[in-house]
Amino acid sequence: MTQRIALVTGGTGGIGSAICLSLADQGMKVVAGYSNEAKAKAWQQEQKEAGYDILIQHVDVTSLESCQQAVAEVKEKAGGSIDVLVNNAGITRDGVFKKMDWDQWNSVLTTNLDSAFNMTRPVVDDMLEKGFGRIINISSVNGEKGQFGQTNYSAAKAGLHGFTKALAQETARKGVTVNTISPGYILTPMVAKIAPEIQEKIVAQIPVGRMGAPEEIGRTVAFLADDNAGYITGSNLSINGGQHMS
Ligand code: CAA
Repeated sequence: MTQRIALVTGGTGGIGSAICLSLADQGMKVVAGYSNEAKAKAWQQEQKEAGYDILIQHVDVTSLESCQQAVAEVKEKAGGSIDVLVNNAGITRDGVFKKMDWDQWNSVLTTNLDSAFNMTRPVVDDMLEKGFGRIINISSVNGEKGQFGQTNYSAAKAGLHGFTKALAQETARKGVTVNTISPGYILTPMVAKIAPEIQEKIVAQIPVGRMGAPEEIGRTVAFLADDNAGYITGSNLSINGGQHMS
């Protein structure tokens, strides 16, 4: 069988790195999407030293044009079309709604939700034609339950659930599955930005008693990306240590 090609947006970040490594462990050719070239090159070298040969690709997920160009370049450098797309890139701009400005709202909605359209649109035709595809959208526990200080982020992440369920219906007959993973609080630089006293309160609400590890998300992505996961579509897997059970 030919080697599957996976593209992970935000691939050099906290959760993205773990996803890339899990997919590589599963034998895939992995491309990490990045926005910061210097950081991405250093990251790639670090992975190489750890024994992982991961390609990198610049992409601005807020721009359809940039995503189209990135997909064309990935096809060229990976030697085939994308089999697995992980829509993982995301940002936070937290603040209570009464103090939130348009830029805080708009930057989170375009990076975390418009990105799903911008990245998926250029890859879906190839997947449908090939009769195989795995689209995995990284949402959040805060898209399921809402979070104080995150009207923007919760709205965008909840939007991903709707996107997943609608697209899954459209692509199911052609072997293309679409699923969402909703991580809870995972130990990454994004979560490290939360004030320590607030972090303590959050951990107190997690039955497992700790934050999650990025690898715990990476392995679940690899599970959904597998050829044998073809009967799982339109689903949402919550990985939150029991913080929210729906
Ligand atoms: N529920 C109800 N009230 C709350 C509350 C909560 N969860 N959190 C804070 N409040 C109250 C406070 O007690 C305070 O009340 P008083 O004014 O009566 O004292 C008031 O709201 C203002 O709270 P802050 O002092 O915290 O307000 P702030 O403006 O300094 O900060 C904030 C607001 C930036 C949103 C801050 O509360 C915060 O960082 N919260 C955490 C947000 C969060 O969880 N972000 C997740 C980021 S990681 C991520 O998103 C990854 C993922 O997918 C999980």
